[in-house]
Amino acid sequence: MNVKNKGDKTPIKKEELIKEIERLKKEKKAVVLAHYYQRPEIQDVADHIGDSLALARYASTLSDVEIIVLCGVHFMGETAKILSPEKKVLIPDMEAGCSLADSCEAEDFKKFLERYPDHTVISYVNTSVGVKALTDVLVTSGNAVRIVETFPKDQKIVFGPDRNLGDYINSITGRNMVLWDGACHVHEQFSIEKLIALKKENPGAKVLVHPECKKVLRLLADKVGSTAALIDYARESEAGEFIVVTESGIMHELEKKFPDKRFIAAPPEDAGCSCNECGYMKLNTLEKLYECLRDESPEIKVDEKVAAAARRPIERMLELSK
Ligand code: 13P
Ligand code: SF4
Repeated sequence: MNVKNKGDKTPIKKEELIKEIERLKKEKKAVVLAHYYQRPEIQDVADHIGDSLALARYASTLSDVEIIVLCGVHFMGETAKILSPEKKVLIPDMEAGCSLADSCEAEDFKKFLERYPDHTVISYVNTSVGVKALTDVLVTSGNAVRIVETFPKDQKIVFGPDRNLGDYINSITGRNMVLWDGACHVHEQFSIEKLIALKKENPGAKVLVHPECKKVLRLLADKVGSTAALIDYARESEAGEFIVVTESGIMHELEKKFPDKRFIAAPPEDAGCSCNECGYMKLNTLEKLYECLRDESPEIKVDEKVAAAARRPIERMLELSK
């Protein structure tokens, strides 16, 4: 029996919500996938947590499942729907967007590409389905370098939409990809001065930086990588302290997995704001997850024609990153 009917605003205790989520998952053959930037309580109730690449892989391989609830942002839900069109894909809050994806409208990207007709188009997965449909191969921060390196050194490439990730790939691979001028408002907010001060206060700490951050921050890193790559580094490193320069949701997994190590979240530029939290990611709450399983809504829908064009570069990415 539902603990709450639709429209009922009475708050429910966390333990009851978790119990109901578990019950609904079984009853509806649903699986909950969560990104590392989700709230801790959502990560704890998820069947699988991962970075963008792992979430796409789960979505393409899950069998015996009728519903996928993607606890992340909208483009992640779209990717899951494109890879599993026969499944119902839900997202707890339809407003969970992404400033980076929003920095690149498909119409504008199309016009931009007209200036580079002989270039291969490589896009970050943080894009709308319309941008994906204009792309030859997609990448995530977890496989971008590897995938770009599969192309000949003299191959002309346009990369969008993240200028920081693009610049990082150029620096590692020696390529000179043409970059779309987009960025993530969360990762661009970290303060270089505060990071330098933190390094001084914690001289033994290793610095973990996401490639969506600006170059000055990446230059101070011991490890640059996707959220999953940063977690792997913390696991393998002999160091006991780490300064973490990415969205603070990752702290939950780091502290849970490695209780004997100490993790320090790097602060943003503006001390009065908590921009190192992605407001979009945090829109999903346990209560919304429960309601979304109960009502099977909001549901991610993708236009089948555009989805067919977007499926090709996603599948190519999965193939190239095996
Ligand atoms: P990864 O999941 O590839 O680490 O990317 C982080 C991110 O910003 C997702 O929105
Ligand atoms: Fe988008 Fe940045 Fe939020 Fe990731 S952290 S979802 S890139 S706005």
